[in-house]
Amino acid sequence: MLAKINGINLAYTDQSRGAPVVLLHAFPQSRAMWAPQVDALSKTHRILAPDFRGFGESDAPLGHYALDQFADDVAGLLDHLAITQAVFVGLSMGGYTLFAFYRKHAARVTGLVLADTKAQADTEEGRAGRFAMAQTAQANGAGAVADIMLPKLLSPVALQTKPDLVQRVRATIEQTQVSGIAGALMAMAKRPDSVPLLSQIACPTLVITGELDGPTPPADGKLMAETIPGARLEIIPRAGHLSNLEQPEAFNRALLDFLKRIS
Ligand code: MLT
Repeated sequence: MLAKINGINLAYTDQSRGAPVVLLHAFPQSRAMWAPQVDALSKTHRILAPDFRGFGESDAPLGHYALDQFADDVAGLLDHLAITQAVFVGLSMGGYTLFAFYRKHAARVTGLVLADTKAQADTEEGRAGRFAMAQTAQANGAGAVADIMLPKLLSPVALQTKPDLVQRVRATIEQTQVSGIAGALMAMAKRPDSVPLLSQIACPTLVITGELDGPTPPADGKLMAETIPGARLEIIPRAGHLSNLEQPEAFNRALLDFLKRIS
């Protein structure tokens, strides 16, 4: 589905009925990465999964991107659908966006799932890496970004043994417009440190991390779970960064258990 939100066409999935759960995707992916969760959760919940501006089937305008803008797009979509509150699940860049969303719209959040993400801002080295990747995208296209990102997004064992998954993740990256890739890289580079926010998070929170996650290893998950009051940590065995795709059954179990506990 498409809705005009904040001046752009935002694509989203809106499936089933029940208490709403909003799924926010990673970089440089799209709402397609949530297919195993949409299947599992839509038996009991209404699932909303937008493509962030710059990704999937949403518009990818050239210019300034910010995670605050991503958060406002999500809020605008909820307004469009007359949804006041929801449980939010964000993986990696989706999690960074949830920190921005929580700063602005905490009252709309009834539960938070922070998956394979981290609260810290980029290091100088990390920022330099983002600028280099944006240059690569500009010079050589999204395929070159896929070459760099695949070994970060998937564990070595998945890269070797799950060719269909590798192909799906690669295809999503290759279909992403360079304006969106570069825009999101700049947005992530500018994001503030969210560590000071953690102790102020007042809703039920689940932190999920793949055991083999390289970009946001379990130590980042532990920091969030130890600092957010009452948060729980679930480490998914044999999963890399896209833990929801590498081990969907374990990921869904953790998610469903959390949803049940807070309902
Ligand atoms: C993601 O999966 O969203 C990215 O790996 C996040 C990042 O580059 O920091």
